[in-house]
Amino acid sequence: MQNLGIAITGSGSAVPATSLHNQQLTQLVETSDEWITTRTGIRQRRLADPTDSLSGLATAAGLKAIASAGITPADLDLILLATSTPDDLFGSACKIQAQLGATKAVAFDLTAACSGFVFGLVTAAQYIRTGVYRHILLIGADILSRWVDWQDRRTCVLFGDGAGAVVLQANDSDRLLGFALKSDGTQNHYLNLAYQDTPQEIIPGVNVAQGTYQPITMNGKEVYRFAAQKVPEIIDKALFAANLTVDQIDWLLLHQANQRILDAVAQRLSVPEHKVISNLANYGNTSAASIPLALDEAVRQGKIKPNDIVATSGFGAGLTWGAAIFQWGR
Ligand code: ACO
Repeated sequence: MQNLGIAITGSGSAVPATSLHNQQLTQLVETSDEWITTRTGIRQRRLADPTDSLSGLATAAGLKAIASAGITPADLDLILLATSTPDDLFGSACKIQAQLGATKAVAFDLTAACSGFVFGLVTAAQYIRTGVYRHILLIGADILSRWVDWQDRRTCVLFGDGAGAVVLQANDSDRLLGFALKSDGTQNHYLNLAYQDTPQEIIPGVNVAQGTYQPITMNGKEVYRFAAQKVPEIIDKALFAANLTVDQIDWLLLHQANQRILDAVAQRLSVPEHKVISNLANYGNTSAASIPLALDEAVRQGKIKPNDIVATSGFGAGLTWGAAIFQWGR
């Protein structure tokens, strides 16, 4: 049977148990609840403790998505893990495959920072549209707390940890209505979790670089400028591809970076506030996890209903940005 359309049939999410409120951050850096709340909208975030793992959070989110789609792990053909913070640089998707018992599934990681979920959605869709795979688990998960400089008040107040997942299935009608993706490496230096090496002479005359990674660095003003300009543009492009106008969307589901970015994008697109999904007050910026985490909450709260049209957009390091317009459910 050849159904080459895509439906997003289930969602799930998982966050670590530990919460850190803005007020607690004042014990660490010179900041205030008032500064963080007014500049970002964030009030608290969840933090992975040393016993948590990226693959554990991702597996928990994946299991819930599989259950809500009404399939079993054995049905999965592909597991795509969007992350910048794998437990293992060789990738964490295979570990998740094993933890799920998804014996048939091919599994690999995809890195596009905060755009990872949208890039993953479009990647997964291509496998279904070409008839290669029928059941795909897409997970967005990140533990950025591992890579934050907890002495840097410009960045440490922004991020949180979590995982979200969706199941994509082959379907008669195609529910991915349009998409657009972009990258611009000339602006790469605005947001980095950069490799750092210590030169080591292993034998006389032969030098190698012994590696680790530096904490996250960010030019906040430039990233804000980039997001406020490029996100409305890319959503317009995706809407054009979907042959829809902005007033036809039921929900605007942006990467949960910062409330001011959400507000600026919604205003530029003339999307009313009641259509904007926002849960960053409770989770901060969870990078690749933020869109599926907010999607899953909105579905479970009964906000996003079957057939609702969702405009989603991810944006971040790379720089990368993208948008996808989809209709929820079969
Ligand atoms: N608490 C108190 N003061 C602070 C803090 C803090 N946590 N952080 C910075 N400040 C100070 C600065 O030191 C500066 O003080 P100074 O003028 O004495 O030097 C002052 O506040 C203003 O700093 P700016 O960096 O200019 O603050 P800005 O108004 O730009 O707000 C913010 C910073 C919130 C990060 C903003 O630039 C922004 O929203 N950027 C978007 C970036 C973003 O959301 N990144 C998320 C990750 S990327 C992604 O997901 C796409």
